[in-house]
Amino acid sequence: MKLWFVTPYREEPAMRIGVLTGGGDCPGLNAVIRAVVRKGVSVYGHEFVGFRDGWRGPLEGDTMPLDIGSVRGILPRGGTILGSSRTNPIKIEGGVDRIKENLASTGVDALIAIGGEDTLGVAKQLYDRDVNVVGVPKTIDNDLSGTDYTFGFDTAVNIAMEAIDRLHTTAESHHRALICEVMGRHAGWIALHAGMAGGANVILIPEKPFDIDRVCEYVESRFRTRYSPIIVVAEGAHPIEGQMELQAGTLDAFGHVRLGGIGEVLAKEIEKRTGKEARTTVLGHIQRGGTPTAYDRVLATRFGLQAIDAAHEGDYGKMVALRGTDIVRVGLDEATAELKTVPVSRYSEAEVFFG
Ligand code: F6P
Repeated sequence: MKLWFVTPYREEPAMRIGVLTGGGDCPGLNAVIRAVVRKGVSVYGHEFVGFRDGWRGPLEGDTMPLDIGSVRGILPRGGTILGSSRTNPIKIEGGVDRIKENLASTGVDALIAIGGEDTLGVAKQLYDRDVNVVGVPKTIDNDLSGTDYTFGFDTAVNIAMEAIDRLHTTAESHHRALICEVMGRHAGWIALHAGMAGGANVILIPEKPFDIDRVCEYVESRFRTRYSPIIVVAEGAHPIEGQMELQAGTLDAFGHVRLGGIGEVLAKEIEKRTGKEARTTVLGHIQRGGTPTAYDRVLATRFGLQAIDAAHEGDYGKMVALRGTDIVRVGLDEATAELKTVPVSRYSEAEVFFG
């Protein structure tokens, strides 16, 4: 039975809305949850239920209370109060039906799924099977189509830039080449932005296989100017086929390879070829932790406000997105059709500063 909430303008049926965060976490998730709940309760009179650990929550009916009290004070907090996981219900037999049953038994009318390509890919498939879903894009990788930026990216870039600034000073004291490995398995956005902001000697991204001979030339030319080279490499970057040997990684539930290690391989090769000492710093999950920047808090909050509006209006199968400075809604199919990778033109801008 529906409850009725009386607004100053008209009577609306109150909804029960589920919220989940899936995939790799990123700073700003809590800001979205807060905005959804604050507007949902105070403006629309809806009630909420949190699903724990991404798609595992609705799959197993694992819920937690979500009200204004539970979102107080979470705006600046990294991580997610709901927890996250890389559970893929599509890979589990009967997974979609179990989710539908659990949503029905918990009285959930609509679901707000906050996630990246994998989480939103599942959201799209559920929408195709008549589940009322609205998507919110998150990922430090900034590789989702349909939105100019995802929250979490700005924070990750700033963390990496600060690390690069610090590496510059110690590299120069010791006349070493320092390699900074950042996240980004299919898209080099973090490497590109952090490398540009940090004045990298060369930036290596997954979109463009690198030529190790060229990389070593850049390294040597930077040493000739008495500065020490900083090489920023995305974890998914790889050499031109046949140039160097790389180890294969294991796969996660969505079939993505677990990466990490290209920085170390590069350091060895650079030392061997140039005779200069080369060392690697892998930033790893540091890029995903801690408090979001102001930019990410505002973007996440605006996404949350738009997502609850979409759910309230019954505008399902949509993902909220940033276009220019506007928050809009795009189809989940458009948003998940393909990854947004770094275009050649953007990489060319950075190349001007290589060497
Ligand atoms: O998708 C976000 C991301 O941080 C990627 O940049 C990275 O490759 C991956 O997640 C790491 O995943 P996990 O945290 O599961 O090791």
